[in-house]
Order: sequence, then structure tokens, then C-alpha cells
Amino acid sequence: MQLKRLGIMQRLLRKVPVYLKCLNKNKQKIGVRFISSSIPEDRVIFSGIQPTGVPHIGNYLGAIKYWVSLQQEPGKIFYSIVDLHSITIPRSDIPEHTLLSWAIGCVVPVNRLKILPQWQERMKQSKDGGHIGTFTYPVLQSADILLYKATHIPVGEDQLIHINLTNELAQVMNRRLLKPFFPRVHSISTSTSTRIRNLRDPSVKMSKSAYSEQTRIELTDSDDHIWRKIRRSVTDCTSEIAYDPENRPGVSNLIEIHCGFSNLTPDEVCADAKGLDTGQYKRVVADAVITVLAPLRQRFHRLRNDEGHLKSVLKNGADRAREVAVANWECVRRLLGLCA
Ligand code: AMP
Ligand code: TRP
Repeated sequence: MQLKRLGIMQRLLRKVPVYLKCLNKNKQKIGVRFISSSIPEDRVIFSGIQPTGVPHIGNYLGAIKYWVSLQQEPGKIFYSIVDLHSITIPRSDIPEHTLLSWAIGCVVPVNRLKILPQWQERMKQSKDGGHIGTFTYPVLQSADILLYKATHIPVGEDQLIHINLTNELAQVMNRRLLKPFFPRVHSISTSTSTRIRNLRDPSVKMSKSAYSEQTRIELTDSDDHIWRKIRRSVTDCTSEIAYDPENRPGVSNLIEIHCGFSNLTPDEVCADAKGLDTGQYKRVVADAVITVLAPLRQRFHRLRNDEGHLKSVLKNGADRAREVAVANWECVRRLLGLCA
């Protein structure tokens, strides 16, 4: 299926940080509310996605959708395929990420990383105590951000804890460098859809690595797949459409998906769905998702067939990112006294 084709794209994309300008076409669907109130002209935006698995609607609503709309705003943008975070890949095209990560790692107490929920979760699952790469992953993520002196980070809710850590580490580094070299980092998010849930188990988030493809809608899914996955999603015995994430997580997740793909609010969605039962409402949600994803999918396949263009986007993105990365690392290196 498409997984194989996507695998090829991922192998291609994971090589370098890249500007994903090609996603621009869908901008009319996008509504972003900034958590931080003003938009400074000198804002530097950084975000990333792991090259594992096929991106799904959680990635789209939690992150990719903003990435596209943010391209209309002032400021520099870096969107990255975070290859070093997928530990099977030995190196990145911009080695300054690892250099800065090492420098930051030297000032982070082990106990600060031990308490992070993602590590705690891994520790529970692992038989061998977990890998060092997984343990220091949040340090590498902080280095990704700080290397570009990024100020604004569009990510889903699950990443906020890492953004807070980045701020802490930036301050520790600034003290070490004896100057406020790294700026304050702000997360930015939309008003809805920052944590889309697993379609089969709404108590956990939708994830690329979940055991079954039935738990998520992938961005390359056909219209028919989208409909079948939504039709089979877990709801409850009440047929009324009401937004109540705590007591009715399944139907509330569908409402959030619907809101994310229509820019309606939960109240508007519920008012429109008055009189529908859950089965009928699932069709409405599927239609809203398909309306947005079908043209994106077509565009993806067109772009995927133009390998020369993709490679040049990757190369240009890497070249532009490298310029900033090298200059900033050079400053850090000097301030740390690491030069001859
Ligand atoms: P990842 O797939 O872990 O590389 O995530 C890439 C981006 O998608 C990050 O900004 C995540 O916060 C966001 N994201 C991942 N899963 C979800 C989800 N289920 N709901 C909302 N955002 C998500
Ligand atoms: N850790 C992020 C995730 O799992 C991906 C990521 C790596 C990232 N480096 C980043 C996101 C820097 C924002 C900024 O989704």
C-alpha cells in the first residue's frame, strides 16, 4: 500500500531540515489562534516531525496545519525532518544539532530528564533500562530549537513539556555563556485539535506507532479508508451528539476532528448535528475530513512523482538552515571557549 511509497519519501525527506513550502495550497482552510498575543517581526519559528511512520490527522491538526498558515506571517521559518530523533539513522546533514546537543547535555542534571513522562513511559516498557538516545532525546530537541535561536514553536499539546524544558535549558546555557544568547521560546497552538485521540481507544492519543492502522487516519488514506475508519471508531451507547471529553471521549474526539477540518466550534458542530445519531454523525465527520484531505492527497502524489523538485526543495532548505546553524554554533563554541 501507500506505506511503501511513503517510506521512500521519508527516506528522502529525513536527510535534511527542510522548508515545507509545498503545503501552501490548503491555506484557506486554516484558522490559527496564537497563544502568545503579539507577533514580533523578528520571530523565528522552528518545528519538526519524526521520519517514522505515515503522518496522520493528529499530526495535521496538531502541527502541520499551523505550519502552512504560519508561512503567511512575518518571520523566519525552519521546519525539520528530525532524523537524529529516529535512532536508526546515524547522522544528520547538519551536524551542529549534535554538537549543540552535547554542549547542552553537559549542563543538564540526569534527574531533570528522569522525571519526563515520555521517559517514564519508556522505562515501564523496556526490559534493558532504556536507551541513552531515548533518554537524551529532549536535549536534542532543545538543541534543534536553540540552534536557530527560535522564538516560536508550533507543536501539539504532547510536546509542551519539552518546550518548557527548552526554556529552562536556554537559561542554564545563557548563564554558562555569560550573556542572554538564546531568546525565550514560546509554544504556539490552535484553539482546537491539539490532541487528537486514537480512534479505537480514545483514552490515548492518535499515534504513528500504535499497533493498528485502524487507530488513526493517515494523510494518504483513500476516501473509502477514511470513511471506514471513522465508521468503526469507538463511541458509546448514547446517540446524542454532545461535546463532553471527560465522560464521552469517543464522540468528543470526532467533534474535535470535525472542528479541526471545518473551523467550526464544538457548539456550532453540536447545533448542526441536532437530531443526528452517532452513526449519521460519523458520515458528516468523514465528509469534512475527506473534503480537506482529498486535494492534499492528490497534491502529495503529484509532488511525490517529481523527485527532482523534492530533492531541490530539500537541498535549498538544508543550505539555508545550515547557514544559520553554523553561524550560531560558532558563537556558542567561542563563548564556551572551545576555540584555539
Ligand atoms: P511526531 O509524529 O511525534 O513527530 O509529531 C509531530 C507533531 O505532531 C508534533 O508537533 C506533535 O505534537 C503533533 N502530534 C502528534 N500526534 C498528535 C495528536 N494525536 N494530536 C495532536 N497533535 C499531535
Ligand atoms: N519531539 C517532536 C515530536 O516527537 C519532534 C521534534 C524534534 C521537534 N525536534 C523538535 C518539534 C523541535 C519541535 C521543535 O513530535
